Amino acid sequence: MIFTVAIDGPAAAGKGTISRAVAARFGLAHLDTGALYRAVAVKGGDPVTAAQTLTAEDLARDDLRSLEAGQAASRVAVIPEVRAALLDFQRRFARREGGAVLDGRDIGTVICPEAEVKLFVTASPEVRAHRRWLELGGDQAKVLAAVKERDARDAGRADAPMCAAADALLLDTSDLTIAEATEQALAAVAKALAG
Ligand code: DC
Repeated sequence: MIFTVAIDGPAAAGKGTISRAVAARFGLAHLDTGALYRAVAVKGGDPVTAAQTLTAEDLARDDLRSLEAGQAASRVAVIPEVRAALLDFQRRFARREGGAVLDGRDIGTVICPEAEVKLFVTASPEVRAHRRWLELGGDQAKVLAAVKERDARDAGRADAPMCAAADALLLDTSDLTIAEATEQALAAVAKALAG
């Protein structure tokens, strides 16, 4: 079975939790594509070389989840050659036998426009910043500023900007618990698998 679930949206909207739940429920492989950009940024040196030589160990580092790594990832993600170096791996993952869930910014638009299910998961910047702050701590105002800065860069870049595909299902999680949002995503995937 070739079956791709594309889950896009801004930072801290709940994409990761939803993606993992969808993958576990339906037995699909999961790729957190943000981790690729985080690993490129944290590896250091020339970002294009880093993207071309990324290894499994780079992806297994335990310092990828920090606020700084997220900001740095957003900066290297603007570079077209970095995106190009990561494209084939993501495309092959998306169409692998057995089905896959990928979460990121451009999965439904660029990596896998033919995905069988596309979700765009979002929430207000304030709600997302609060969630990130609960997870990582720090200064709340700084976390909100970082979230807004990252949104602007990810949505404003020329190459593969973050945006909802025309045929994506919008899931605004501002007023939903993650459990409620996950239920909606699971229902959408179940429907596509049945149809
Ligand atoms: O999802 P995340 O917070 O781990 O992503 C970190 C950064 O990586 C994000 O701000 C922009 C970039 N990114 C991207 O450009 N395209 C993707 N498919 C995933 C992430």
